[in-house]
Amino acid sequence: KQANVLLDKGAVISEIDKRIYGSFIEHMGRAVYGGIYEPDHEGADEQGFRKDVISLVSQLQVPIIRYPGGNMLSAYNWEDGVGPKHERPRKLELAWRVIETNQVGTNEFADFAGKVGSEVMMAVNLGTRGIDAARNLVEYCNHPGGSYWSDLRRTHGYERPHQIKTWCLGNEMDGHWQIGQKTAEEYGRLAAETGKAMKQVDPSIELVSCGSSGSGMPTFPEWEAVTLDHTYGIADYVSLHQYFGNRDNDSQNYLASTMELEHFIHTVISVCDYLKAKKRSKKTMMLSFDEWNVWYHSNEQDQKLEPWQTAPPQLEDRYNMEDALLVGGILITFLRHADRIKMACLAQLVNVIAPIVTENGGGSWKQTIYYPYMHASVFGRGVSLQVIVSSPKFDTKDFTDVPYTDTAVVWNEGKEEVTIFALNRHLEEDVLMTFSMKDFPGYEVNEHLVLEHDDLKAANSMREERVKPHNNGQWSFQRTELEVKVNKASWNVIRLK
Ligand code: AHR
Repeated sequence: KQANVLLDKGAVISEIDKRIYGSFIEHMGRAVYGGIYEPDHEGADEQGFRKDVISLVSQLQVPIIRYPGGNMLSAYNWEDGVGPKHERPRKLELAWRVIETNQVGTNEFADFAGKVGSEVMMAVNLGTRGIDAARNLVEYCNHPGGSYWSDLRRTHGYERPHQIKTWCLGNEMDGHWQIGQKTAEEYGRLAAETGKAMKQVDPSIELVSCGSSGSGMPTFPEWEAVTLDHTYGIADYVSLHQYFGNRDNDSQNYLASTMELEHFIHTVISVCDYLKAKKRSKKTMMLSFDEWNVWYHSNEQDQKLEPWQTAPPQLEDRYNMEDALLVGGILITFLRHADRIKMACLAQLVNVIAPIVTENGGGSWKQTIYYPYMHASVFGRGVSLQVIVSSPKFDTKDFTDVPYTDTAVVWNEGKEEVTIFALNRHLEEDVLMTFSMKDFPGYEVNEHLVLEHDDLKAANSMREERVKPHNNGQWSFQRTELEVKVNKASWNVIRLK
């Protein structure tokens, strides 16, 4: 099979906001306790953070991490997590039915983020709380001093403000599983008024209005239309969440499910632009895809969990080769929408549906999905170029006209680098992809990284890394045409300099 890709360096979709390579740490399962934080671990630093985890996260170059939830957010009192640790309460955490010890909170997490080179995307509880708790938290985090909450932070040992720029107004407030679930009207009003007060404390912050919990929600996309009617003036982004799973064990159909993602993104953009027109606004609402990943492997196991444990293993999906391919496809989709998607968070980062896994008291390792995420984050900086692709197509159970290949091209003018991300999602056939490189004379292929495995169900573990990239991808130049062989079911990164 053959696919052709036309590139034009003048046809720029947008500068890529590096925050599309963000991630997420929620207080649940072993994400915080036993994940990033394990003071008794022999490799813990002076604050109790695991140095091996800091190293694995740093290699991903995660620009922003959403915190502290997630579903847990909707009954969280941020005050429980600041001040002397021995005074912090142990509480029933209702969303995941565990005990929250509060040994990590806002200040410690800001420190952790600094250690891995990330910004914090802070979320405020709009389930059980509202305007007051949210504006106090902004004052605590961002006000320099001379006020009650900012001075309290200083007495807690943080003289300088954290200067957190990005704030989420609640989490999945349409979900029946959410503590304090709201109707669109209720949420829209509360979010608008909360956001107003927060920006009054610190006008430099940016706000994310809560979108639907997923495109499958019965209220989607009416939720977006109603809530944004209230929050359009105060918010800068609307959130999108979507999780995927190969529940029917139909891998071809599963790998085509970025088609659905594409449709979801288009719909949210349409609703935003409808509101822009309705309000005669000059502002274009941007998208924050602040929860996305594969999540299904652990569902059954999680049903059996005894409640009220401290940091039990929850949502510990073990990812395989096909999951890594889908993750690559999702990242390509985001890059092709770089003009509207300005933030995105792989949910999550450590242990809980995560690219990084730790053993309590032991080592840590990389899941299959670590690799496409790292490749995109490290090499996908610059501008996203418009590509015109002619690719053969196939049909699956749920999707028609699925292109065999999916591709995004990033040009980093400063570094004089072009990176091609290419996915062949067909399970049987290789594709020869031809890229017209006439706009990039003198550029040569530096490396062609490939992630592939004969067994789509191959996974990694502490003992064995079965799925990892190799550097032996095949390519050749025919004058200005770059020919790249993209093997069946493979993720490819072609780096030119
Ligand atoms: O990431 C796991 C959960 O998925 C989050 O807590 C919630 O926001 C979503 O439903």
